[in-house]
Amino acid sequence: MTERVLVWDLPTRVFHWLLAAAFAGAWLTGDSERWRDLHMMLGYSVAGLIVFRILWGFVGSRYARFRSFLFRPAELLAYLRSLATRSPRHYLGHNPAGSIAVFLLLGLGLVTALSGYAYFQEWGGEWLEEVHEAAAVAMLAVVGMHIAGVIASSLLHRENLVRAMITGRKLGESGQGIARRYGAVALLLLAAGTALWAWYPAGGEATGQVRAVQQEQRHDDERG
Ligand code: HEM
Ligand code: HEM
Repeated sequence: MTERVLVWDLPTRVFHWLLAAAFAGAWLTGDSERWRDLHMMLGYSVAGLIVFRILWGFVGSRYARFRSFLFRPAELLAYLRSLATRSPRHYLGHNPAGSIAVFLLLGLGLVTALSGYAYFQEWGGEWLEEVHEAAAVAMLAVVGMHIAGVIASSLLHRENLVRAMITGRKLGESGQGIARRYGAVALLLLAAGTALWAWYPAGGEATGQVRAVQQEQRHDDERG
């Protein structure tokens, strides 16, 4: 391993840090009725980001493609076994253990957002709220393991993986890196997110109006 090569394209990095922020925000606002509008916007952002990432998993750059981190069970076992040795196997992209966390996080993020939306739309009973909460708790647990895994493999491989998720670069052989950053795709992702959030105050206002009408009706009822 001789030089720093580009591994994570810009869309993957932008996706990652926005997903972390949106998930953290949705988690923190879930309990409070006061923050419900914001909670839903953060949840839609999680869903939108994951939909983007799934598309990017098919058409994105080399290490962002799902094909590059779909491992057979035997390869996962060999990797886990190598962790106990002095020279654990090194992967330039996701390692087999990390890739499981990636798929779990994408799946749980979608289930959490969908169940939240279904509950809000009253598509089912109270059980949807249970599913929503359980999916969110499960995702938080995987996030915890994900962060522990990132720290552990950073120490094990003596490579700062958090910095790699910021700069996109990891230690590798020349020629193994990707050639382009795909900045235009990252801009498109940011533009779509900005449009969604620019629309948010309008949505909030509408909800506010609904509340005002409901309050007026309640006053009318009280007056009899
Ligand atoms: C994907 C990211 C999301 C996360 C991590 C998340 C997390 C949570 C959490 C932790 C709660 C509190 C559960 C409880 O104590 O009962 C909650 C409640 C709620 N969430 Fe989400 N949520 C997400 C997305 C959404 C979306 C997209 C919607 C709807 C469009 C939504 C609608 C709701 C509603 C209506 C409640 C209140 C349930 C109740 O009445 O107790 N959530 N969410
Ligand atoms: C809070 C919620 C978080 C979520 C939902 C999340 C989710 C993800 C996902 C889906 C990936 C796969 C990236 C891709 O291929 O598109 C990933 C990778 C990664 N995440 Fe996170 N992440 C979170 C927080 C963090 C934090 C706080 C850190 C830093 C301590 C971190 C560091 C990394 C690193 C270094 C990778 C690349 C792992 C590798 O080298 O294989 N993540 N994360």
